[in-house]
Amino acid sequence: MKVIVLFVFVLGALSAAGEDFFAKVGGKVTLNCGVSSYRRSLTWRHINDVLHSVDQSGFTRKGYVELVQRSVVRQTNLEISSVRETDAGRFTCFADGTHHNHSLVVLSVLASIKPSAVLELNNEARLRCEVKDQHQGCEVKWRSPNTYSLTNTSTVQLKPVKTSHNGAWECIITCGRNTFSEPLAITVQEPPTTTTPPTTLKNITSFVTSVQGTTCTTCTANDCPLGLSCSMWFAIGVCCQFGMLLIVCVTVLCKCMRRNTV
Ligand SMILES: *[C@@H]1O[C@H](CO)[C@@H](O)[C@H](O)[C@H]1NC(C)=O
Ligand SMILES: *[C@@H]1O[C@H](CO)[C@@H](O)[C@H](O)[C@H]1NC(C)=O
Ligand SMILES: *[C@@H]1O[C@H](CO)[C@@H](O)[C@H](O)[C@H]1NC(C)=O
Repeated sequence: MKVIVLFVFVLGALSAAGEDFFAKVGGKVTLNCGVSSYRRSLTWRHINDVLHSVDQSGFTRKGYVELVQRSVVRQTNLEISSVRETDAGRFTCFADGTHHNHSLVVLSVLASIKPSAVLELNNEARLRCEVKDQHQGCEVKWRSPNTYSLTNTSTVQLKPVKTSHNGAWECIITCGRNTFSEPLAITVQEPPTTTTPPTTLKNITSFVTSVQGTTCTTCTANDCPLGLSCSMWFAIGVCCQFGMLLIVCVTVLCKCMRRNTV
């Protein structure tokens, strides 16, 4: 008999003891009241602010704080969406004569990579997952792509960067039975090759010799260092050559004609 009484007492104490709920900034969370039904009234409070108060007939009185707009009572539970850091703290559910204290821990997660999310092969990089929370019971891990291996730390050093590091990484935060994840995409690139200079930088002498050739079938706009004005340059070159030729021809002709007339 004593055992049963003790058991009931322990059960009561357990249900009276509040629960710790966890949520990520921007996420959604459902706070369980601790009772599944009520007869007269149900009220949810955040610290000292009344959020929602439902009476026997189902009529709901709403509080005046901003959190009221982002929360709703479903049966006895309080659903909060678009969680903010200011939502953290004590929540109390009053059901009929009893009250149940709970606490909400809001996690603000920042996954970052240095020097940047686009990495070069064989370089070095550092991944960090920072969790701002008042609760020390959370574990932070990193999951790498391809291999799906887990690292047990909030910081990962990539030294050197390999092709297997390319892809979707995930920072995983475990707080009791709750798991949150924050994605981070990494792109691994081959370092740029330095053997051949860009084709647009053709040297002047080859350009001039190609212009000097009588047929310039290969002289397209893309080949030319000055882009679209190339055809103009080519025309000018041809004109000049023709002009020179004409002058030479005329002078020679004139000389010949003078000699013939003398
Ligand atoms: C709930 O919290 C309030 C304020 O801290 C405290 O006065 C009350 O005793 C607590 N109730 C339970 C059941 O722990
Ligand atoms: C990760 O850390 C936790 C807690 O410190 C420990 O219990 C667990 O064995 C570790 N896991 C690995 C794979 O190191
Ligand atoms: C330019 O091209 C000519 C002919 O192709 C070549 O002989 C010369 O060495 C080149 N000059 C430079 C600076 O690359």
